[in-house]
Amino acid sequence: MQDQHYRGLVAEWYDDWLKEVTADKVFYSGFFHGFQGQVLELACGTGRLLIPVAESGVTIHGLDSSQHMLDVIWRKVADLNIEAIELYNQPMEEFSLPTQYDAIFVGSGSFQLLTSPESTLHSLECIQEHLTDGGFFLTDIFIPWDDIIAQRRDSYHVTRDVGRSNGQRSIVLERFEIDLSKQVKHGAYRYEFYKDKHLSECITDDLSIRWYWKDEFLNRICRSGSIDRVVTV
Ligand SMILES: C[S@@+](CC[C@H](N)C(=O)[O-])C[C@H]1O[C@@H](n2cnc3c(N)ncnc32)[C@H](O)[C@@H]1O
Repeated sequence: MQDQHYRGLVAEWYDDWLKEVTADKVFYSGFFHGFQGQVLELACGTGRLLIPVAESGVTIHGLDSSQHMLDVIWRKVADLNIEAIELYNQPMEEFSLPTQYDAIFVGSGSFQLLTSPESTLHSLECIQEHLTDGGFFLTDIFIPWDDIIAQRRDSYHVTRDVGRSNGQRSIVLERFEIDLSKQVKHGAYRYEFYKDKHLSECITDDLSIRWYWKDEFLNRICRSGSIDRVVTV
């Protein structure tokens, strides 16, 4: 589980870093527009995707292994007129919820945070157990092509640099190494937080992602027998 990566100031600044990323928000809101069933988002984070879906009137629950990310959702929905969101602080590779869902999705490549075959399989089994008859699993995956071609970056480089109107600023830096045989990108991250141009806090953390070739994902993972109906984008 990699929830250390999404705690404290990292959770607080997550939306600032992603504020210009809108394609997935538009996609999931459009996909579920008018959907009548119950939906679950795994690894829902700060609700960047969950909240717009909920705002369109869909019944949606969220699950995430970081309580700090879920706390951000609670703060955001307090100001919105959204019906009955339920949030669960559990890992997606081992969850048990009281509801069965007509759709379960994992957005923004977050399923790829499960890097071992066992955790992926456990997660797919949990997903299947929580789907209604006729329910489906929806996810998106990505391949980090530029990083695969580069193979490694030994020194940190800036991936995000964001300021707030109150003068606070945060910078995210990354270095990484590609393991081609395991199809894993091992990333190391450094988060710098500034107040009045002075470095006030610095956090370092590791985070890996597993990538899949599309046919591999469809044939080996999704049609492994764990899940009956899969939609990939
Ligand atoms: C890149 S963020 C994506 C959040 C949200 N889906 C979005 O698009 O903004 C990844 C999220 O996955 C959560 N996460 C990481 N590993 C997890 C796991 N094993 N089970 C559940 N959530 C996990 C993190 O806490 C974080 O909130």
